[in-house]
Amino acid sequence: MRFQNKIIEWYQINKRTLPWRSTTNAYVIWLSEIILQQTRVAQGLPYFNKFLENFPTVRDFAEASEDQVLKLWQGLGYYSRGRNMLFTAQQVMTEHNGIFPNTYDQLIKLKGIGEYTAAAISSFSTNENKAVLDGNVFRLLSRYFGINEPINSTIGKKMFTKFAQDLVKGETASVYNQAIMEFGALQCTPKSPKCELCPLAMDCFALQHQQINNLPVKLKKGKIRERWFHYFVATQENSILMKQRMQGDIWQKLYDFPLIETENPIAYTHPDFIKQVKKSFGNEVIIRSISQKKHLLTHQIIYVHFFVLENYMINFSLHTEIKLALLADFKSLPHPKVIGDFIEMYL
Ligand code: ADE
Repeated sequence: MRFQNKIIEWYQINKRTLPWRSTTNAYVIWLSEIILQQTRVAQGLPYFNKFLENFPTVRDFAEASEDQVLKLWQGLGYYSRGRNMLFTAQQVMTEHNGIFPNTYDQLIKLKGIGEYTAAAISSFSTNENKAVLDGNVFRLLSRYFGINEPINSTIGKKMFTKFAQDLVKGETASVYNQAIMEFGALQCTPKSPKCELCPLAMDCFALQHQQINNLPVKLKKGKIRERWFHYFVATQENSILMKQRMQGDIWQKLYDFPLIETENPIAYTHPDFIKQVKKSFGNEVIIRSISQKKHLLTHQIIYVHFFVLENYMINFSLHTEIKLALLADFKSLPHPKVIGDFIEMYL
């Protein structure tokens, strides 16, 4: 039997009954797919039900407030995904007359919908012949066919896309796509796959070559860099010390405060730290700790500590990057999010 038929046959017997599998409504499928990108099926189910109860149609969703959406999303993390959903729903109202698109080419143009989601929605709702490629499918294809190109490299992605697309050709895409994902999720699992019960075992490259634990190959992400930003907030009547960030680093061209950056954590009472502060702001300077925050970026963690600066002296010709600005002007300039949040809270 062909690979595809074995997968579909396995699926008919082993599939879970899930609410989004009994609909062809693109809006409902979209809801489920966005939630399932964020969490596993068991945790996602109650969220899916809550969203659908509150917003039975895309129009209801589009008319929601951001607070309402974020409240329903609460607990899933990565809140921009929730916010993007509202944007997408509104986009469907304005650009598609309130009818959720169901073709791959239209879906891929919507905010928050990438190749995977566009393939999932179009194939599940209209049988459009687009292969879904998620973590489950990468793993299964890589093991069965013995593909050792990294799944997160450009060449690897191209190669897997070609394999996946060749396999779905001629199939009922809605069923085959659900089946291959379910197979990866339940049978060909990352750890301890159920090879002894697997209908593909005979022809599985990885199993036959003892490569199950080596496939798929994934390139390690670059190391996460940690940085410690000590910000000095120096206001005087209606003015403030500010600086514009340089090119070649995060937040380039945005405005923040005078800053001492360290590569390691340091207590602000530590003599080395005090020495640095005095060097920049004079011997009489007093600093007062105001707030601390851990700010996460894709490849960096920034530990941000804000201090109020009093009794300071500054030599502007030695610190040409620092300028005195009117507080009102400073507030209207573009800032990194952490700075904007600080301004809202304290200035
Ligand atoms: N994960 C992502 N999409 C899914 C779906 N449609 N069914 C089950 N698990 C999923």
